[in-house]
Order: sequence, then structure tokens, then C-alpha cells
Amino acid sequence: MKTNIAVLGAQWGDEGKGKIVDMLTPHFAAVARYQGGHNAGHTVYVNGKKFVLHLIPSGILHPGVTCLIGNGVVIDPHALFAEVEELARGGITVDGRLKISEKAHIILPYHRELDVLSEARRGERKIGTTSRGIGPAYEDKIGRRGIRVCDLLGDRTALADEVRENVSARNRMIIDSTLDWKPVFEQVVAFGERMKPWVADVSLCLHAMMADGKAVMFEGAQATLLDIDHGTYPFVTSSNASIGGVCTGLGVPARAIGGVLGVAKAYTTRVGEGPLPTELSGALADRLRESGQEYGASTGRPRRCGWYDAVVVRYSARVNGLDAVALTKLDVLDDLPEVLICTGYKTSAGTITEFPADLRILSGAEPVYERMPGWSSPTKGVTEFDRLPAEAQRYVKRLEDVTGVDCAIVSTGSDRRETIIKKGSAVERWLSN
Ligand code: IMP
Repeated sequence: MKTNIAVLGAQWGDEGKGKIVDMLTPHFAAVARYQGGHNAGHTVYVNGKKFVLHLIPSGILHPGVTCLIGNGVVIDPHALFAEVEELARGGITVDGRLKISEKAHIILPYHRELDVLSEARRGERKIGTTSRGIGPAYEDKIGRRGIRVCDLLGDRTALADEVRENVSARNRMIIDSTLDWKPVFEQVVAFGERMKPWVADVSLCLHAMMADGKAVMFEGAQATLLDIDHGTYPFVTSSNASIGGVCTGLGVPARAIGGVLGVAKAYTTRVGEGPLPTELSGALADRLRESGQEYGASTGRPRRCGWYDAVVVRYSARVNGLDAVALTKLDVLDDLPEVLICTGYKTSAGTITEFPADLRILSGAEPVYERMPGWSSPTKGVTEFDRLPAEAQRYVKRLEDVTGVDCAIVSTGSDRRETIIKKGSAVERWLSN
């Protein structure tokens, strides 16, 4: 029996999941995305060519691999069609390989506007969202007035009622707003027509594939610290990016998940607002940002940069049951004389080593650091662990000790080939069976 694995972010997103998923894809028959929307940006380099995917799993870059978008994902049809066209320009066709859940919710044309409005209303307390309408679409889903993919393909009178109801809810949210529901209705009908060939019962497809002995990779977007339940609330996205999202967002049972791989950068970044205990400023932050090219793949925003936070990754390991970590961007630290690891936080209530729920505690937290010598020599492109400089090996081993999770994969560059898969690791086992 093949092992199905979940690949998800262990920090605040942008850990390099796209590259890891892309690299592992040849071992899987299908890649299934379980939450989020086009707020995600997965950058993949194939033979020097850059692809940025927002909605469609990066597995699409591999011929023959089925890519599924689960019910837990919110879909902006414009973004979906733009991505399909972009792939077509790169010579990749999605037909027959792309399956979109009939239960997935649609991001309506005005959700983006509501996102921007809600941020403006929050003022100083803004979340720093991607302004893609993600939050408002999930609000409509939870508020039981959302429009699903199957609604676009079903009875038109029922759809007209649903759109009218949704638009009037929107009008109640904006003072003096009288948006007409009819053009929205016409637009969503057109979306449905265009999406029709890809629509499927994704849960059923996955169950059939797994019963056939085919291996599936469950692909997360955003990350554990951006999870609506387990992240740094309210500075989070509106879905379950952590492991529970796999079951609810795809309609698969927990026992279908045979392994969990967390992706973590060798340092920490985040975009948007909210506390980031190990955040750096000044020349060192600029250096990490430039050498790691830390700019949002979706919005181009500069990312905030900091040292590796072991409290965060240990927390992610617990919440998700990580079997292994894929440590990315080790090469970005290559020319630093010293590297720091945060192992706890000093707070007004003493030193803590477990991630706190209360952001007031986190905001005032001062990191407790372990300092290690840097390696001041290139790791870029190294493909065997033993070939890494001794100090780099010691750094990775120390991260394993303080988080309790094996770094089965170490990424040493942006290309697929610039990767170490450790011998005897869980990842090697998953890929060999
Ligand atoms: P939203 O998902 O657009 O509502 O944004 C909520 C928070 O999640 C903001 O801090 C965003 O910057 C962050 N976020 C959303 N998607 C990503 C991502 O793909 N990578 C990193 N941060 C993200």
C-alpha cells in the first residue's frame, strides 16, 4: 500500500512548500489542495523557468498527475481561469487532470471589495490581508449564504434566489449600498459554464484512487501559525491550514493520512501584521530579505524576517503530528558569521517554552536565543547531508534536537535538484514504498 502524505507549512507561510510539493510529485498519482484560495503563491522553478501557482496544485507541472481542489478551498473564478491560461501559455493543459470540488465556495466579485473595506474599518488593528476576498468568502460560507460550485451548475431559479440573498447581505454591510444582484447572477452563471468540465466529487475521486492503491499528496496553503484556530488569531487566514483541514477540506478520513511533512525555513518570515517574536530590523533583516528574495509571491509585499523560532516549529510539530520537516533555504544563511535559534520566550510571567494563545503575551515576549557559529561557505546546490559544512550540519542537528523532529529534507537552493533527502529518513521510506 502506498503512503499518502500531507505537506503543510510549519511557520507563517512562504516556507517553500511549492518547491517541496513539486519535487515529491513524481512519486504520487495525485496532489490535492485542501484550503485557502488564491491568497497563496507557490513559486516553482523548473529548469530555470519560474512558475507561480496560486490555486491549482503545483503538481500540474508534471504530466499525468491529477490535481484536485477540495471543498475547503475558496475559488475566485477569474483567478482560476487566468491560471489555466497562464499554464496553457507554458504548454501545460489542465483538461482531464484538474478536478474541482462541487462543494467548494466561490469568491464573488464583491468579496475583494469587502476585504479591503473590512481592513480599512479596522484601521490600526488591520490584519494585513492579501485583499483577495478570502475572509469575506469564508464568512459567507460559515454564515450559510455562500454560493458553491454545484449551485452554479444546478437549478437557475434557485441560484438566482441564492445570489439575491447574498447580494442583499452585502448591501446591508455597506452603508447606502444598492448593488443590483442580476449582473452578479449573470456573471456566476458564466463562471459555471466555463468551470463545468473540471467539476467533480473530489472526495469520491480521492477514495477511488486510494482504493486503487494510488498515492495522494495533500497540499496545504498558508501555514499552521496562520490557521484560523491554531494560528496567531486574529492575524490569521480564514481556513484550517493545519492538519485537520485535510479531512474537512477534502472529505477524506484521518486514517488516509500516512505521513505528515512540515515545511519550515531555516529562519522565519511573515507577511501582514501580528507579532513575530524573532523579527529582525536593520541591515541583518535587509540582508536576509535580499538574499532570500523575501517578497510575497502573490502581492509582492516585503516579508518581515527573523531568526528560526523553535518554539513555533515545536508547536507546529505537536498540532500537526509532524513526522519530518523539510528545512528550506539553508543557503540563505551561508554568509552569516553567526546564526541564532530561539528556544523560549521571556515574558512578564517568566520564561515560557510553549506557544501562548494570548497575543498580548506574545507581543511582549523577548526571545531566548542560542547562538551558533555560521559556516561562511556555500551550501547552495549541495545534495548530500555529509557534504554540508560541519557548522551547517551542526545547525540542522540542533534544530532537530530543539524541535524534536528530523529534518528529512534540506533544501539548498530554489531548483528541484538543489535538495538533500536524508538517508533512512521518513521521506525516503514514504517514497520507496
Ligand atoms: P488573507 O488570507 O488574505 O485573509 O490574509 C490573512 C493573513 O494571512 C495575512 O497576514 C496574510 O499576509 C497572510 N497570508 C495569506 N496567504 C498567505 C500566503 O500564502 N503566505 C503567507 N502569508 C499569507
